[in-house]
Amino acid sequence: MALEWSPGSWRGLPALQQPIYPDVGALRAALQDLSELPPLVTSWEVASLKSQLASAAAGKCFVLQAGDCAERFADCSSKRITNQIKILLQMSLVLVQGSKKPVVRIGRFAGQYAKPRSADFETVDGVELASYRGDLINRNEPTVEGRTPDPQLLLRGYERAALTLNFIRALVKGGFADLHHPEYWDLDWTRHSPQADEYHRLLRSITDSLRFMENILGAPAGGSDRIDFFTSHEALHLGYEEAQTRRVPHRPGWFNLSTHFPWVGIRTASPDGAHVEYMRGIDNPIGVKVGLATKPEDLLRLAKILNPANEPGRLTLIHRFGAERIREGLGRLVETVRGEGLEVLWMCDPMHGNTRTTADGYKTRSFAEIESELEQAFEIHGACGSILGGVHIELTGENVTECIGGARGLSEADLHRAYESEVDPRLNYEQSLELALLVADKLGRG
Ligand code: PEP
Ligand code: CO
Repeated sequence: MALEWSPGSWRGLPALQQPIYPDVGALRAALQDLSELPPLVTSWEVASLKSQLASAAAGKCFVLQAGDCAERFADCSSKRITNQIKILLQMSLVLVQGSKKPVVRIGRFAGQYAKPRSADFETVDGVELASYRGDLINRNEPTVEGRTPDPQLLLRGYERAALTLNFIRALVKGGFADLHHPEYWDLDWTRHSPQADEYHRLLRSITDSLRFMENILGAPAGGSDRIDFFTSHEALHLGYEEAQTRRVPHRPGWFNLSTHFPWVGIRTASPDGAHVEYMRGIDNPIGVKVGLATKPEDLLRLAKILNPANEPGRLTLIHRFGAERIREGLGRLVETVRGEGLEVLWMCDPMHGNTRTTADGYKTRSFAEIESELEQAFEIHGACGSILGGVHIELTGENVTECIGGARGLSEADLHRAYESEVDPRLNYEQSLELALLVADKLGRG
């Protein structure tokens, strides 16, 4: 590990999952352009999220981190963005009602454009091609040209992130997230889905309580019209992250101002790797994915490197084991954290340990396994005396058929109907709400 940190000190260490650009001069020019463009988020928003994550670690609020596995540039549209915001608002409403606590919303959006891949190459029709690594890096079309990393896409990604965030901020500021008007968030299904009745019952109870409060106060309940969304993405392409790492005038330190909450994926979380080196020097709250491959001694090293001051809210551990392995893996990580008195926020990602491929070649996940991993996560944390402070979900506000199961009983035979994801399978809007009802139920009992 380098002694002196700088936004570029990661360059001296092994950096996994980085694309190889044929024209290094063009890459350098694109990163230079990026480093001169304005930031997407501000350091005070970042600091506010850090203190909210510290509250979540203490069990005072609950975090919903959710969104696409990979955003596509083509999905940067009014309908897609509003549908994503609607499902997040609906889920958080359900969670607030169940947990009786504030919910912190973090989207996997406005920057979730780069994907780690298990294989660098794939063979399509007998031709060996570089893998698609997300719209920030190359194109999904299976041609040599399409798969060649293009540095201009880094700038297109920054612009799409800015457009997305601009629209979300305007929606929120304009009253779209106002609790007095949950009807703004209706998706088509709100009339005819298996969860519709339960959702509307919850909605009525919340709006009734709000009106009751306001009658007593004689004034609008503070903040019910101002709901925050924070952004997050996997900090994968280190050049892109470095170019958006800045100092600010009235606060010490360095901030990644491309997002509020960057996280390190499981494939790049080695304590000796370039990603961890980059993350240690920024002042944002950060996440690290952990799973079966994470040894307790690695976890200790990671915590020392990434949070040497043991600052609450700084480090979130997002665990992803799979329904069949969580019992074997989670307890020992929780014990390690407790034994050393480490301040961490625990979040459960019940998606990434439960991915499999069907005989027809579809990547899918079963709702039952996702539900089972979440239930076990609550149980194991409860038994170890630690707090599960959030969930990390891959979902979409669209009516896709990518995960099987749920109240509508989607089967493998349904997958071809509306399978859109170019990477991991996401819960559709009904399955997402069903999952929120389930988590709300757990939180309500806890
Ligand atoms: C992801 O969150 O999309 C992802 C790739 O997760 P992980 O690093 O846990 O595999
Ligand atoms: Co994913």
